Amino acid sequence: MKNLLHLNKYLLKYKTLLIIGAIFILISNIFALYPAEFVRHAFDNIQQALSQNINETSIHYTLLKFGSLILLFAIMKGLFMFFMRQTIIVMSRKIEFDLKNEIYKKYQNLSISFYKKNNTGDLMNRITEDVNRVRMYLGPAIMYTINMFFLFTLVISKMLSINVSLTLYVLIPLPILALAVYFVSTQINKKSEQSQAQLSTLTSISQETFSAINIIKIFSNEDNAFNRFYEECKNYKKRQLRLVSVEAWFFPLIILLIGISTITTVYIGGLESFKGTITAGNIAEFIIYVNMLTWPVASVGWVTSLIQRAEASMQRVKEFLDTQTTIFNHTSKDTKIKGNIEFSKVSFTYPDTGIQALRSVSFKIKENETLGVFGKTGSGKSTIANLIARIYDRDEGKISIGKIDIKNLNLYQLRRNIGYVPQDGFLFSGTIRENISFGKSEFTETEIIHAAKTAGITEEINQFPNKYDTLVGERGVQLSGGQRQRLSIARALFINPSIYIFDDCLSAIDANKEKLILENLKAKIKNNTNIIISHRTASMKYANHIIVLEDGKVIEEGNHEYLVKLNGFYAEMHLKQTNENIKDRV
Ligand SMILES: Nc1ncnc2c1ncn2[C@@H]1O[C@H](COP(=O)(O)OP(=O)(O)OP(=O)(O)O)[C@@H](O)[C@H]1O
Ligand SMILES: [Mg+2]
Repeated sequence: MKNLLHLNKYLLKYKTLLIIGAIFILISNIFALYPAEFVRHAFDNIQQALSQNINETSIHYTLLKFGSLILLFAIMKGLFMFFMRQTIIVMSRKIEFDLKNEIYKKYQNLSISFYKKNNTGDLMNRITEDVNRVRMYLGPAIMYTINMFFLFTLVISKMLSINVSLTLYVLIPLPILALAVYFVSTQINKKSEQSQAQLSTLTSISQETFSAINIIKIFSNEDNAFNRFYEECKNYKKRQLRLVSVEAWFFPLIILLIGISTITTVYIGGLESFKGTITAGNIAEFIIYVNMLTWPVASVGWVTSLIQRAEASMQRVKEFLDTQTTIFNHTSKDTKIKGNIEFSKVSFTYPDTGIQALRSVSFKIKENETLGVFGKTGSGKSTIANLIARIYDRDEGKISIGKIDIKNLNLYQLRRNIGYVPQDGFLFSGTIRENISFGKSEFTETEIIHAAKTAGITEEINQFPNKYDTLVGERGVQLSGGQRQRLSIARALFINPSIYIFDDCLSAIDANKEKLILENLKAKIKNNTNIIISHRTASMKYANHIIVLEDGKVIEEGNHEYLVKLNGFYAEMHLKQTNENIKDRV
């Protein structure tokens, strides 16, 4: 139970609901207790009437009186059960809400390497499925436990006050019932978990198929995809059938044990009433008590397995909640993000793959100047961007902005001041306007249009019937790679940062458009410190200084003209690319 202890802080927060709920449970149980006594009185009255020849109308009246009382008490019990659910179940929903938010907040705080280690399905499951199981503990499990406590105390003390030996006899089957239910519900849970896991596999496969549907169609791979689905679906059916066969035991078992208790009551009760220690009414009363006890006893087994499941789920949730982020914000002070950016002897190895992406890299970007980062694929270009935005922290060397080590800058301020255009222009489901204004909540239409214009995408936006209200992303218009890249550029321009990082964001754009956008950008970013990452030399012409990376090392550096004259790797690539361009034009 040690993981569930984490929830005590929430139980404490909502203690009023919990205490009021417990009081309602007590009251509802008191109302449940008396009808059994009324039944006894009714029975005894009939017996008395039969033996003393009392007339029928008066017994009619007595029975009506007890009948109405039973009805009234049942209504009152129902009313308080309603209140009990309104407090305890409401409490569990409130805690579920808080816990989900706690987990989500934690997720957002964790570093990217955490996301590389854990897959999306797992992250989703812990915030939905596992939290749901924890809620079952906070709601039903707590409610039934309190209920059981009150009911047992009230009913058993009542039974004992009537007849001790009869009480003991009729209670014998109940612990067996509890054990049997526990056993069956553990089996049910195990089987249902297996089939749940299989369902996840099935969902993942379908999801993958649908998102890759055009590749499947082009490769004529439908049969293969179907067979894969068919096999997994068959597996799911098998597990479901196993679950059904265990579940089928559940009710017959309970009914059997209730039956045994009832028969014992009638038999032993009959013997006792012959001896004159109890009345016939007492037997009827006892049957009601036994029936009142059986469901709660059955729920002992059920509640135990609920708690066990919740504990296992909470352990999974806690594993994530206790994960420490590897990127810390060392200061909450305001720190200016301005000045020269300097890398000195920076090395970095990706912790999850062990790939060394940067080896002793040094360079300096003066304020309001532009650095070009050039290199083949996998040479470490994007890693430089990751390190500046502190998506990862470097292993060796020093990275500073305006002479201050970036680790001593306010992390959130640092990130807010970087206009980052990622390599794979990602769009959120929403309108074009929402996608551009992503970084800000208050803005004017002119700011949006201005950003779109600089990114060279206004013409295309104006061609859509809904213009800036056009839905893009998963369920919206499918934009081309180049359009996505330019929307990402507009998003970065929109926030007016002090540092721009353009990570290969013009790769899907043709040479003419690239030139136009770079000209636009040149005017826009002249008062910023910028990094343009590219594997095209055309983008490098705008840089004041260029570093050429190969295998994480700087192999050449200087401006465009210098590097072309140097006749090394850069010059070779430049020649190739300009030849290709000329060929394109011919
Ligand atoms: N998140 C990551 N986790 C582990 N290894 C990574 C990660 N990102 C990059 N790498 C590895 O680090 C090396 C450098 O990658 P990087 O993304 O910096 O290259 P790049 O120059 O940007 O390449 P490209 O031009 O293809 O974008 C590569 O070998 C890559 O496999
Ligand atoms: Mg890259």
